[in-house]
Amino acid sequence: MTSHRRYLLVRRPNGTPVAQDFALVTEPIPVPAPGEVIVRNHYASLDPAQRGWMDDVPSYAPPIPLGSAIRASTVGIVHASADGSFKPGDWVVGVNAIEEYSRSGPAHGLRKIDVERMPTPSNFLSAIGAVGLTGYFGLLEAGRPVAGETVLASGAAGAVGSVVGQIAKLKGCRTIGIAGGPDKCARARDRYGYDVAIDYRRKSVAQLAAEILAAAPDGVDIVFENVGGDVLDASLLNLAMHARIVLCGLISEYNSDHGRVGARNIWQLIVKRATMKGFLVRDYSTRFAAGGAQMAAWMAEGKLHIDEHIVSGIDRAYEAFMMLFTGKNQGKMILKLA
Ligand SMILES: NC(=O)c1ccc[n+]([C@@H]2O[C@H](COP(=O)([O-])OP(=O)(O)OC[C@H]3O[C@@H](n4cnc5c(N)ncnc54)[C@H](OP(=O)(O)O)[C@@H]3O)[C@@H](O)[C@H]2O)c1
Repeated sequence: MTSHRRYLLVRRPNGTPVAQDFALVTEPIPVPAPGEVIVRNHYASLDPAQRGWMDDVPSYAPPIPLGSAIRASTVGIVHASADGSFKPGDWVVGVNAIEEYSRSGPAHGLRKIDVERMPTPSNFLSAIGAVGLTGYFGLLEAGRPVAGETVLASGAAGAVGSVVGQIAKLKGCRTIGIAGGPDKCARARDRYGYDVAIDYRRKSVAQLAAEILAAAPDGVDIVFENVGGDVLDASLLNLAMHARIVLCGLISEYNSDHGRVGARNIWQLIVKRATMKGFLVRDYSTRFAAGGAQMAAWMAEGKLHIDEHIVSGIDRAYEAFMMLFTGKNQGKMILKLA
């Protein structure tokens, strides 16, 4: 094999991405320059955040340059190395791209992983990757749950939300999940242990707020927000005194072509002396090993279910990525590349 395929951003999406915003190209497999490592990617993480990196707007990461492969965390095997700390055959994880082979190295956060530790190497993108650790640190450090409190999470049946609900139960909280459609709600309840699941689809803010009130008459102590828009507005109308809102994601706005919706009921922060705090998982990177060890232990003890939705083939990158926005994914969205 001398060539490989790469999935490039060729045009900045206007609202919802279309297939023509991307191009699948074939190029020679790169040769490592001094200090570089070439990784044969086996799995690439598909994340809502990638949609944000496609826009040329200020963010915590630079926009993906046009003509570059879509930035993604990947798990793979070192194919060739000109860096003494990596050798061919090592399993690694790093911030690379949706491509079959990546130029990588320490500048990409590349690190060796012990794949024997987990049921499958893809778990380094889910349970003990950024997504699992977002649920872990977001709830425990930003939310600070106390036993007996009520935790509400949106995107409850998704990769982050499923972790939040399960850890909240492990900490003795009551849990309310908001998800799209009866199947996702059943999954939130039956698999991820939510005490109540509320379907947000085709409901007004007032209807949603009434359903949350029925589930939590004394108010919600922690809102773990993954969605934003109407869902957040309805939650804001149901805060308990001194509630904490962990602002983790606003996926309902990522494809908006008419600006951001914003939270319209923030007056409730004053009424309830509540706190809303932005959360970014990378701020906890020095503690990923400890968080990952706890997540792995809960999985091994059968206390934590982690689901992955794996789609095979780089030629299916667009189809798989868009499942995040239609809600077709059943678990952490991952593209299998080898
Ligand atoms: N701050 C951080 O460090 C950090 C890190 C990772 C992820 N995040 C954020 O966490 C959130 C969840 O990410 P994830 O990776 O776990 O994805 P995910 O929940 O596994 O998948 C995305 C889900 O979002 C829901 N969704 C999509 N469009 C929606 C809309 N317009 N309105 C309401 N719900 C919608 C869908 O679920 P339904 O079928 O239920 O509608 C979909 O399945 C995202 O907002 C992401 O940006 C933040």
